[in-house]
Amino acid sequence: MVNRDWTVLGEKVTSWINEAADQLRASLSKPLEVSEKSAHNDLVTNMDRSIEQFLIGKIRADYPNDKIISEEGYGDGVKDKRGVLWLLDPIDGTLNFVMQKRFFAISIGIYENGNGKAAFIYDVMADELFHCITGSGAYQNTRKLSALTDIAIDDALIDLSPTWLKPNRRIHEEIMTEIVRRSSGTRAYGAASLELAYVAAGYLDAYFTMRLSPWDYGAGLILLTEVGGLCSRADGSPIDILTKQSVLAARPGLHQYMSDHIREQVNQGRFIKEPE
Ligand code: IPD
Ligand code: CA
Ligand code: CA
Repeated sequence: MVNRDWTVLGEKVTSWINEAADQLRASLSKPLEVSEKSAHNDLVTNMDRSIEQFLIGKIRADYPNDKIISEEGYGDGVKDKRGVLWLLDPIDGTLNFVMQKRFFAISIGIYENGNGKAAFIYDVMADELFHCITGSGAYQNTRKLSALTDIAIDDALIDLSPTWLKPNRRIHEEIMTEIVRRSSGTRAYGAASLELAYVAAGYLDAYFTMRLSPWDYGAGLILLTEVGGLCSRADGSPIDILTKQSVLAARPGLHQYMSDHIREQVNQGRFIKEPE
């Protein structure tokens, strides 16, 4: 066990996030340097890099023995879950940041020996911080989030990208159609950390994707667990916080319904394929 005052850590992280958010808001009135990573819609900007360096500098100064996994490559080559591990996304929703100048977040999840300890997801333009210290409740700014109750699929609002409903290499395109057809409606916001926070806050009933990285879901997984939500891979198997994988996050009964449905479809011969 690491001897740490998590409340003090929470205050520090919140002040770092506020400072980083000021930099991000200020950057929107200046020209952005945008470049492509793996694809034309996989973007990185000068701000992704500079916010990551800023936050890592703060973490290293105050918690020099901790390990960091972050998107833009300034973190550590982490091989195991021992000690304190920070999962950091300096801008989650870079495409939104570039194209919409809204609906992007700073996401920080902190684990101790693989157990979620603290989560911070900050919607920069809405000035909304979703946060928790494990065991002390989850909050949207100062509002305490309620424990999640169950909902029937017919009444549920499901967040999933249209990507998973057309031919793709991760999931047979018809697996999710029954869920979409039966649901109240669907949404896709393009910032995974916020989508997970919205499930935790009860604004969405489920979030589903076939491909997410540790920095995308690290904080959301902790927040959702704090309010009694469930988060797993598409087939219901547990998330491994060190790898890319599918993510199914939902209210408890709905999670069971959706993971059962996906497993049945797989048993009938339709494929799902985890990221390698
Ligand atoms: C992306 C967003 C998006 C999700 C992608 C992520 P980024 O993060 O969270 O909603 O569908 O898989 O990579 O690249 O904007 O930090
Ligand atoms: Ca991300
Ligand atoms: Ca990012």
